[in-house]
Amino acid sequence: MTRATPSTPAHRSAPAAGRELLIHNLGELATPSGSSPRLGPKQGQIVRQAGLEVLCRDGRIAFVGPGAERERAWGPLPHAERLDGHGGTLIPGFVDAHTHLPWAGSRENEFAMRLAGHSYQEIAAAGGGILATVKATRAASEEELAAAAVRRLNHMLAWGTTTAEAKSGYGLSRRDELKQLRALHRAAADHPVEIAPTLLAAHEVPPEHRKQRQRYLDIVCQEIIPAAAEARLARFCDVFCESGVFSAAESRRVLVAGKRHGLLPRLHADEFSDSGGAELAAELQALSADHLMAVSAPGIEALALAGVTAALLPGTSFFLMKTQYAPARRLIAAGVPVALGTDCNPGSSHSESMPMMVLLAVLQLKMTIEEALTAATLNAACSLGLGEEIGSIEVGKRADLVLLDVPNVLHLAYHYGVNHVAAVAKDGRVVHRVPGW
Ligand code: NIG
Ligand code: FE
Repeated sequence: MTRATPSTPAHRSAPAAGRELLIHNLGELATPSGSSPRLGPKQGQIVRQAGLEVLCRDGRIAFVGPGAERERAWGPLPHAERLDGHGGTLIPGFVDAHTHLPWAGSRENEFAMRLAGHSYQEIAAAGGGILATVKATRAASEEELAAAAVRRLNHMLAWGTTTAEAKSGYGLSRRDELKQLRALHRAAADHPVEIAPTLLAAHEVPPEHRKQRQRYLDIVCQEIIPAAAEARLARFCDVFCESGVFSAAESRRVLVAGKRHGLLPRLHADEFSDSGGAELAAELQALSADHLMAVSAPGIEALALAGVTAALLPGTSFFLMKTQYAPARRLIAAGVPVALGTDCNPGSSHSESMPMMVLLAVLQLKMTIEEALTAATLNAACSLGLGEEIGSIEVGKRADLVLLDVPNVLHLAYHYGVNHVAAVAKDGRVVHRVPGW
């Protein structure tokens, strides 16, 4: 795959020939299969098998099967590093389909206001919300933003995420959007968690352009998108398509400009109200339509027909204390592939934990644990254009793996609020291990 990062980080440099990692003594291996999005009944059809071993070679999965078969085919492997599963469960590394990673400042006071009964939209209208984070992010240096992003990447890794989509969107000027994207690359360059970078210059209209929003859209389309694409700082282009933010027509203009410059479209669609976001995602063949709490029936139909993945972010409904969640069951029934993401951001979902999203997916979106696992791995990977490379435990894929200290995958949600991650491998290297494992 092509990385947008100009330099190759040390831990992802070409692996020495023959570098091997053998993961053995597993209670269960649980994974979806394939390299394209799993939809309908197939979303919940995963492999769950006991007694398997996984051999990683040169960063990729070389073998998955019973130990005796591995012995026959590969011999005793005296030079392989070994990771003892101690009866735990191996799953693919989580792929977080939607995050707003590089921001400065924090909004715990707004959180307290929401606890006191004020709404997210009310706080935003009073000068808080996205624009409060824009102010802090504009005032921060690239180094400070990178350091903040690294702390969040560390949390992600500890909870089993190995790849995360990551957006700009708190700069809202050419200088500050590019600063955010550069900070992202700087943060990820020496970090095991890999990022898939997205330009979200159309996250909000900045204060200085409130009176001439068209001028800001001109800047986004004619200056920020070309500059981000030219510097290869982003792979995707996103827009907050929402009533009161950007209309479907404005969003179309931005995403079409992004496409012209090689940035693939994805969008915040129908988060709080039906804004025609899902239909726009279908029209533009977006890689994902995200949020969808308020998606309409024709919107669901359009996504299904166009084969667009729904990236659901239940952390947002949860953290904003909404009763409304995205209609995951209707999406799955209509044949829309469902992916999951944290939406990690300082306002509406302050969490890096994909296991938390799996929990919310099963308890609130009414998905099965198997469907949620597929959503948090393979379907999310496909929504980032990485389905051939990551998202499942299969020979030939990159060895991004998470060992959970639980006897089977059902415990991932069943025993909640506890971090079950015992070890994480990225590209066949153990990059995280809890003490004593
Ligand atoms: O995905 N929807 C817009 N953006 C974020 C919220 C950002 C913020 O509150 O800072 C979201 O929910
Ligand atoms: Fe978001």
